[in-house]
Amino acid sequence: MKRNLLILSVVSVAAATETLIFNDDFNKLDLKTWQHELTLSGGGNWEFEWYVNNRSNSFTKDGVLYLKPTMTEDYIGTQQLQTGDLNIWGSSPADACTANAFYGCERNAAASGNVNNPIRSARLRTVNSFSFQYGRVEIKAQLPKGDWLWPAIWMLPKNNEFGNWPASGEIDIMESRGNDPNYQSGGHDTFASTLHWGPNWDQNRYPLTHKDYKHSTTLTSDFHTYGLYWDENGLYTYFDDPSHKVLEVDFKTQSFWQRGTFPSTFDNPWVGEPNAAPFNREFYLVLNLAVGGTSGYFPEGMGGKPWSDQSQRSVNEFWNARGAWQQTWKGDDSALKIDSIKVWKFDSAKNEEEVTFL
Ligand SMILES: *[C@@H]1O[C@H](CO)[C@@H](O)[C@H](O)[C@H]1NC(C)=O
Repeated sequence: MKRNLLILSVVSVAAATETLIFNDDFNKLDLKTWQHELTLSGGGNWEFEWYVNNRSNSFTKDGVLYLKPTMTEDYIGTQQLQTGDLNIWGSSPADACTANAFYGCERNAAASGNVNNPIRSARLRTVNSFSFQYGRVEIKAQLPKGDWLWPAIWMLPKNNEFGNWPASGEIDIMESRGNDPNYQSGGHDTFASTLHWGPNWDQNRYPLTHKDYKHSTTLTSDFHTYGLYWDENGLYTYFDDPSHKVLEVDFKTQSFWQRGTFPSTFDNPWVGEPNAAPFNREFYLVLNLAVGGTSGYFPEGMGGKPWSDQSQRSVNEFWNARGAWQQTWKGDDSALKIDSIKVWKFDSAKNEEEVTFL
């Protein structure tokens, strides 16, 4: 029998901590982390760029990643641009075309009647190297300036477990337009965050989960933090500080099937899943600089848009108006610049018992 007096004090501490699981400061461009997409497909929006792996279009300088547009004509010449066959099927894993949809691996200007994709640019992804489910992301970026530039920092589902786009979701942290701030749908002082989701491509209910943020001044002269907080109860994007929320989506009260009120002709791809579905699976990072396109991201007739989305010659109309837009692309100002990307995972809240013997 012990005669010592024992005082046992147990304190339960709910610790919500985060662990850094991805960190790129872009002191170099690591192609083991970032795979280039190689395609003419135009991102499903008939955008005008050709995504290439070339250090003139994607490079690091002083610890910053640049995604920068250049003129295809300067690379392949006028004749090849206007009448040539552009074949990028490639011959090895490192140079094989990554997306054949929308004639993405071969375009023929003579046959199509449109110049071949007139801008070279870059789109990078971590699909083979890094993906995660739930966490916090911060990207320090300076946005590009120049008419019809469309930079984006976003995420796609790794395995499309609920079916093809947009059934398995898409998380856009930052999308912008390089046009002047007086551009009616938002120029380079504005960015937007969006979730894309729906049982079919023509049932995408993204307008219900979309938010614009207009800053007091341009986003092209300083680095700002574009953030995402994402857990099983909801997500929000933020600007510079987590308290400065942009898009907020709560998962607790309804499912995306309820939210979307879809026609009964579609089956619920998320049946039996928690409300967070399809945003309850692993997503990977995508960074790109697109140009133009015919999806309506640049609305018809606005801001002197030189092409019509309905036209069979949209690409030519864009290219023929280069006298107007090319002078707004000034060197590295036209590049999307990324200083760092960090991702933290939430550690599961654990009860730590502190036991003190006195
Ligand atoms: C990269 O792009 C530059 C500028 O267009 C071009 O001069 C160069 O030949 C390209 N390099 C390769 C390997 O394609």
